Amino acid sequence: MTRPDRRPTRSLALALLCVLIADFVEARMQPPRVHFVATGGTISNRDGGRLTAEELAKSMPGVDRYAKLTFEQFANVASSELTLQQWIELSRRINEIFAREKDVAGVVVTSGTDTLEETAFFLHLTVRDPRPVVVVGSMRNPSTLGYEGAANLLEGVRVAADPAARNKGTLVVLNDEINSARNVTKTDAVRLQTFRSREYGQLGVVDRDRVVFFNQITQRSNERSEFDINRITELPRVDVIMVYQGATGDLIKAAVDSGARGIVVATAGAGATSGTQGEGLQYAAQKGVFVVTTTRAGSGRIAPPRSDGANPNVTMTEAMQRRRQFAIAGEDHIPVKARILLMLALSMTRDRNEIQRIFSEY
Ligand code: DGL
Repeated sequence: MTRPDRRPTRSLALALLCVLIADFVEARMQPPRVHFVATGGTISNRDGGRLTAEELAKSMPGVDRYAKLTFEQFANVASSELTLQQWIELSRRINEIFAREKDVAGVVVTSGTDTLEETAFFLHLTVRDPRPVVVVGSMRNPSTLGYEGAANLLEGVRVAADPAARNKGTLVVLNDEINSARNVTKTDAVRLQTFRSREYGQLGVVDRDRVVFFNQITQRSNERSEFDINRITELPRVDVIMVYQGATGDLIKAAVDSGARGIVVATAGAGATSGTQGEGLQYAAQKGVFVVTTTRAGSGRIAPPRSDGANPNVTMTEAMQRRRQFAIAGEDHIPVKARILLMLALSMTRDRNEIQRIFSEY
């Protein structure tokens, strides 16, 4: 009896295995996909006409080594011209990209630098995915000698493509540095090295050989965020009022009368107000408007009152109790970021303790 010849079947299986391995290796060698969303700003503000998303995407020689880049034009305006409604749409769009396009490793957003830290923090709180959103911009426009926009954009793409950038929330990349959207602020009106996280320091750097992270932030963001942008149709009005010598309370009253649902006070030091601002804040409390205390000092934490209860040695008047009922400690958020957090908190709750919890967790 002759045994059947299995050699052709074996050769076929071997060939198939080789094809599968080759496919696998090829797929592994393909750079990840990064999606780029352009909103405008100095990075695109060329004399004689703004650069489009497509032109910006083509401005980076060698980008294919790091990522397969796709792009879209969301807007093409200065950062301070973006409306709060556009913020909601931008966040929804990025959440949608992450939900539908599983092969996208990260999203890069270009923005003007003036209010970049605000847009970035809003995305940090409302994009609920472990993959990174990387916000980039430039200080020099494309018609200026030394334009650094294409270099910043390429660095943003490299960070967005890097698996180490996952679970870090929204990142801000300019000038070879990676900062958390939570902590970064524009510290100089014109210099290239303007985006700083002050005492917290940068999260990492983008070097010639690789992206390197040194730090991690611990506060809630991405998947750990409770802010569902699909449930938010409008952000309530919240105004920021500055404390300065002899400041009057009528500006606070005007904000309340104009429909503010919250006021962020950029206090002197750790909570001092000035002039007649106390009367304005009393008025806000009477009208049920929440007041968040922050500092104008640039850094430093405003702590909630100890045990969040009343001091037994102080007899609380009704007015004091009312003020307390609407008072929130801004923790370490700078005034403009406290405003964003309060707008999001107020879109979910009017419970004072809940709002304070939110300030302590994000
Ligand atoms: N300074 C730029 C910004 O933050 C504005 C320049 C422009 O018109 O794009 O958006």
